[in-house]
Amino acid sequence: MTTRKQRITGNWKMNLALDEALELARGIRNRVRAHVDSDVAVCPPYPYLEPIAQLLKDSPVQVGAQDMDAFASGARTGAVSGPMLRSVGCSFTLVGHSERRAIFGDTNEIVSAKLRAALEHDLDVTLCVGESLEQREAGTTFDVVLEQVESALSTIQAGQMNRIVVAYEPVWAIGTGHTATPAQAQEVHARIRSHIGHLYDADIANSLNIQYGGSVKPDNAATLKSQPDVDGALVGGASLDPESFIQIIRT
Ligand code: 13P
Repeated sequence: MTTRKQRITGNWKMNLALDEALELARGIRNRVRAHVDSDVAVCPPYPYLEPIAQLLKDSPVQVGAQDMDAFASGARTGAVSGPMLRSVGCSFTLVGHSERRAIFGDTNEIVSAKLRAALEHDLDVTLCVGESLEQREAGTTFDVVLEQVESALSTIQAGQMNRIVVAYEPVWAIGTGHTATPAQAQEVHARIRSHIGHLYDADIANSLNIQYGGSVKPDNAATLKSQPDVDGALVGGASLDPESFIQIIRT
């Protein structure tokens, strides 16, 4: 049985001015220095990636983007490509965040293309999946989530799976304070893992890191992280305060 390292990622979303973002990154760097049991990562807004990657260069904290375009370059006003992210010091990117899906129209097909492009450009990927409240109430959580996983990974070979993290983020739990119960998170994580076993093999399924996201706070992180198939957290609001982010890492 593989022991998976916990991974805690802060998704800063569209928050903070540059000086605030640098201060937050410094605060995390100074606190994480003594604590490297977990993988720790942050996803600042695009304009801050380069200075923050510089600031965190000699620390264990990884820097990633919140999204990326599926194309490497071209007439795509406002878009940011994988090679650009690599060139400013990112080691990974999120794709498929529910806010990208709901607000910006990222379909499963687009998410799949972005994921493939990220790997082509040597970026690791955190693939975000999750059902809406309506879908949960209609009893289609597993169908929705497994379809998102399967479609995003449709062109991904077994040998590339060590570059992928999956983040299960139920939409109804994001920014609402309504965290999924540890049992609800565990149930979906276990289904994702067994589906990965079916798509690839048991070793790949056992090695896959599956983070939970949705109103993770210092006071609920421990019980969530203690579930057998929960391998860390993708944290929004609570990652904007270095003290609460570090408490989530340390629980
Ligand atoms: P909150 O932690 O603010 O609920 O956000 C979760 C999230 O969407 C992280 O990607």
